[in-house]
Amino acid sequence: MSSRITRPWSDGPQHPRLADGDVDIWHLTLPSSWNSSCDELFGLLDQREQDRARQMPRPADQASHVVAHAGLRDVLGRYLGAAPQSLRFSTGRHGKPYLADTRLSFSLSHTTGGALVAVSIPGPVGVDVESATGPDRSALADRFFSPREAQVLRTTPESDVPSRFLTYWTCKESFVKALGLGLSHPLNRFEIRFTDAPRQAEIWSAGRRRDEWHVRQLELPPPYVGAVTVRHRPRHLRTWTWRPQSVARPALPTP
Ligand SMILES: CC(C)(COP(=O)(O)OP(=O)(O)OC[C@H]1O[C@@H](n2cnc3c(N)ncnc32)[C@H](O)[C@@H]1OP(=O)(O)O)[C@@H](O)C(=O)NCCC(=O)NCCS
Repeated sequence: MSSRITRPWSDGPQHPRLADGDVDIWHLTLPSSWNSSCDELFGLLDQREQDRARQMPRPADQASHVVAHAGLRDVLGRYLGAAPQSLRFSTGRHGKPYLADTRLSFSLSHTTGGALVAVSIPGPVGVDVESATGPDRSALADRFFSPREAQVLRTTPESDVPSRFLTYWTCKESFVKALGLGLSHPLNRFEIRFTDAPRQAEIWSAGRRRDEWHVRQLELPPPYVGAVTVRHRPRHLRTWTWRPQSVARPALPTP
């Protein structure tokens, strides 16, 4: 993937413009508890998003959900020149959200304390973020990774295994999210291969390189590990920070 990276993670513009082939990644900080900002952002969500928040038993999860989805709406609204609360999402067969009547493709991923929104023209795009503070899941590699990927992990120095596992995992998840299939697509049916080009990876399946797909590892603030996959060669990959303060917020009822 050829890409030019702007000054990383500076505050994102209010009126971003995307040209064909551009990919923007927005980093959102998620709160660890419900706060006054959540009260206000809750009003940007549609009924379904609000109901999902209400059904979450832990206030911390409610808060993360509200900020992630309000952030997603605000980010997309900035590109489309639309109010965040006016966006109407549709959902693909396997759960991938999309907006009808626009070429803008997007993907959301969240983990403890942080979320990423990837925005791209054209699509599709998939993004995944994981926190390295979570439990070590590298034992899953034998079950979910290709034989070659699992072998790479077996020959990795023990102290590097958790982070290498997350690198593979986020690249793989970003691909199945770009496909829109999520985990219904077996993760061991395809393979991530890293190249000499820094932070770039290829997708291989059935013994063939899938040239149309471009995977990029993201340089994220620790403890986050993330990757984005797009089905075009990006011209630019820009990284922005989203802050809730810049959203025009109506005051509406809390969950
Ligand atoms: C999509 C999936 C890979 C997400 O993985 P995850 O690491 O748990 O979660 P992430 O935070 O990275 O991504 C979640 C977001 O991805 C998006 N998403 C959901 N399904 C998606 C799909 N099929 N493709 C792409 N994106 C999807 C949503 O925006 C979701 O956010 P939300 O849950 O807050 O609405 C996984 O949950 C999944 O595959 N779900 C579908 C399960 C499935 O395939 N069932 C079989 C149906 S036949």
